[in-house]
Amino acid sequence: MDDLKDFGTPPVNSEKLVTLKIDGIDVTVTEGTSLMRAASIAGVSVPKLCATDSLEPFGSCRLCLVEIEGKRGYPASCTTPASDGLVVSTQSPKLANLRKGVMELYISDHPLDCLTCATNGDCELQDMAGAVGLRDVRYGYEGENHLDSKKDESNPYFTFDPSKCIVCSRCVRACEETQGTFALTIDGRGFESKVSAGNKDFIDSECVSCGACVQACPTATLIEKSIEEHGTPERKVTTTCAYCGVGCSFNAEMQGDKVVRMTPNKNGGANHGHSCVKGRFAWGYTTHKDRINTPMIRKSINDSWQKVSWEEAISYAASEIKRIQKKYGANSVGAISSSRCTNEEVYVMQKIVRAGFGNNNIDTCARVCHSPTGYGLKQTIGESAGTQNFDSVMESDVIMIVGANPTDGHPVFASQMKKRLRQGAKLIVIDPREIDLVDNTPHIKADYHLKLQPGTNVAIINSIAHVIVEEGLSDQGFVKERCEDESFKIWLNFIKDPKNSPESTEAESGIPADLLRKAARLFANEKNGSIYYGLGVTEHSQGSTMVMGIANLAMVTGNVGREGVGINPLRGQNNVQGSCDMGSFPHELPGYRHVSDLATRALFESAWNTKIDDEPGLRIPNMLDEAISGKFKSLYCEGEDIAQSDPDTQHVTHALESMECVIVQDLFLNETAMYAHVFFPGSSFLEKNGTFTNAERRISRVRKVMAPKNGYEDWEITQMLSNALGYPMKYKHASEIMDEVAQLTPTFKGVSYEKLDKLGSIQWPCNDEHPEGTPTMHVDEFVRGKGKFFITEYVPTAEKVNNKFPLIMTTGRILAHYNVGAQTRRTKNTVWHDEDLMKFILMMQRKEE
Ligand code: SF4
Ligand code: SF4
Ligand code: SF4
Ligand code: FES
Repeated sequence: MDDLKDFGTPPVNSEKLVTLKIDGIDVTVTEGTSLMRAASIAGVSVPKLCATDSLEPFGSCRLCLVEIEGKRGYPASCTTPASDGLVVSTQSPKLANLRKGVMELYISDHPLDCLTCATNGDCELQDMAGAVGLRDVRYGYEGENHLDSKKDESNPYFTFDPSKCIVCSRCVRACEETQGTFALTIDGRGFESKVSAGNKDFIDSECVSCGACVQACPTATLIEKSIEEHGTPERKVTTTCAYCGVGCSFNAEMQGDKVVRMTPNKNGGANHGHSCVKGRFAWGYTTHKDRINTPMIRKSINDSWQKVSWEEAISYAASEIKRIQKKYGANSVGAISSSRCTNEEVYVMQKIVRAGFGNNNIDTCARVCHSPTGYGLKQTIGESAGTQNFDSVMESDVIMIVGANPTDGHPVFASQMKKRLRQGAKLIVIDPREIDLVDNTPHIKADYHLKLQPGTNVAIINSIAHVIVEEGLSDQGFVKERCEDESFKIWLNFIKDPKNSPESTEAESGIPADLLRKAARLFANEKNGSIYYGLGVTEHSQGSTMVMGIANLAMVTGNVGREGVGINPLRGQNNVQGSCDMGSFPHELPGYRHVSDLATRALFESAWNTKIDDEPGLRIPNMLDEAISGKFKSLYCEGEDIAQSDPDTQHVTHALESMECVIVQDLFLNETAMYAHVFFPGSSFLEKNGTFTNAERRISRVRKVMAPKNGYEDWEITQMLSNALGYPMKYKHASEIMDEVAQLTPTFKGVSYEKLDKLGSIQWPCNDEHPEGTPTMHVDEFVRGKGKFFITEYVPTAEKVNNKFPLIMTTGRILAHYNVGAQTRRTKNTVWHDEDLMKFILMMQRKEE
């Protein structure tokens, strides 16, 4: 579908079809579809200003009037539903006159600066003046007007010029319907009406700079500063946001090789045309002056960096790796890939380790975020991934959020979730923090907030399941039909134990038993219950146990295998799912197959023409420990800043200092690079081809919109290093890497760039059975056959407060920044936060004696 075509009003879901005639053309649409949309489908375009198909119709501009045979008056086509047998005319002398009159009024109060206006040629008001044939304004331009209204330039990314506003309210509705922030209103009445951000400048208002209003505005009232500065784009390339696990699809709008605007793609499967401040506006880091574009080497970390050619850098790195392996053994080297990288980059990283280094010492940053998800879900339901697509939330009746803050961490998905909550879905939040969805979001209030003590997740999930089982609220039919009988019986015995009752866990968790009981009942009694969780679950010592506890809860309530339910890990970074899928763990080859499995090894050994070690390699913590003990001497680290983001910084930097060759591949000289001997400059997401896989298992294309500033895409650098080490790689394009993944990985069997180009995105598994992918998993049976319940014994965390360490510290995301801020700190997002913040939450935490 052409994502530029605007049908005027959104599609309407209905089983019933109606047929009508518009300007002599028969058209069949679903019942409830507006006349405007029906006309558009028939190829007839009706003039419009206040309507756009991302928003519900409003009917304020009166430009879209039509005539209906046998009916009096001139109804607005955007608010009039189509019905069987209607005969509609969109053109007549009377309609032309009415429309001209409307346009005259608008234009008489509009600055006539089209030639110098930043959106000249890209303005709906201008288009409509042309469409209705406006040639003159009978009222003149001297009457009362708004032309002196003050421009608001407070937002770093867009301006608001009220002198150009036609008060169509599209911005207000976009903020409400699409974003769910309700920052804008129309103040005043009649001629005095004006758009207001709560009578404040945008920067001081509730606005979260998602840009939905800017996109919705049909005039130059709300426009991007980048468009004011550079003018309108001349071409666009569809690509994927490189920030978070929502995986929003964008059109990079270009002038030559310069990005002038990022516009969310209406056809994006994850975002449906919406975005957050990071994806839409915070791409300035890609051209930031801090970027290093030349390879560098140095013998010691106390020396200064020496700029060298690519040949020299690659050859030096390869010779060091070989020297170290010769001296300290094959296992003395390893690599860390990153969830910031594309699937193709991660795949070649684990391949260079397994085939080039000859060991399995490959790990990824998902080690410290979502590896418990992979393990916990694989064990219980058979696949290391979330069960649903984002759209599924629109069918949920009760939503449980555990250890996640979607409005800050996954903002575009949060907007969809907020829409469902405003429609009446119930909400249970389990988090020590009072996240905005608890009671700080317009028209949303959590039904229950279980503000637990950090570290007591497992006690809470067990108690919820205990109540459900004890009070007879489980879905026995689902359990009997879909789950393993034996494991269920053992689990039932465990969960019924009074130690798991809310009364028993209350003292430890801080959650009053009656509150927990009510929340458990709500979750079990609603038809469709979905669970969304984040790092508050996985970044704990009992992360895997909690994931299994969540899976147990979903199974015992029958909430898997259809729309509106499911187990939904909200993956942090853009490609956490993909980096795990691609075999970047030391014990697993791509597709989560254990290195000890003979058949899997044989498959890869034959394709790669090499021997693969059957022993799992070192994880990140093992690499660091072994570096300190003198056994691990060289690390190749791509796209991850372990010195800044991994726990226990002193330990990490001590380990890095103990190595003889640290190779960092990144956009910037990050903290880890302070301990590096070789620096390979990386390429930004705008400079390479590849794919990212988001939290819904959705594989989306990353497309090169400009040449890499360093000369190479990141996978090419790894390939050059591999060739220099003596293990040949000969990919000519990232698509060839994906072809190899598809050839060797059953869940990716049907994936290709050609298919991605055709479908837009694909949710794996994509194979002969599901050639276009799988939005909802485990529909008739679990991937592992029967679902397996696991005992989830609660073990109190060792990280308790005491006199020496009186505070529990935990991390959380903020909307404007991403992770360690390597990218967002190099954008104007610093307007919102220019340094990290520590927020104190008072809890009734007992001190350890
Ligand atoms: S940028 Fe987003 S949050 Fe801000 S006013 Fe516009 S729609 Fe609302
Ligand atoms: S700012 Fe734009 S979208 Fe909002 S009312 Fe004015 S013209 Fe319409
Ligand atoms: S929600 Fe995530 S993927 Fe979407 S624009 Fe924001 S940061 Fe990018
Ligand atoms: S487009 Fe229908 S009234 Fe404005």
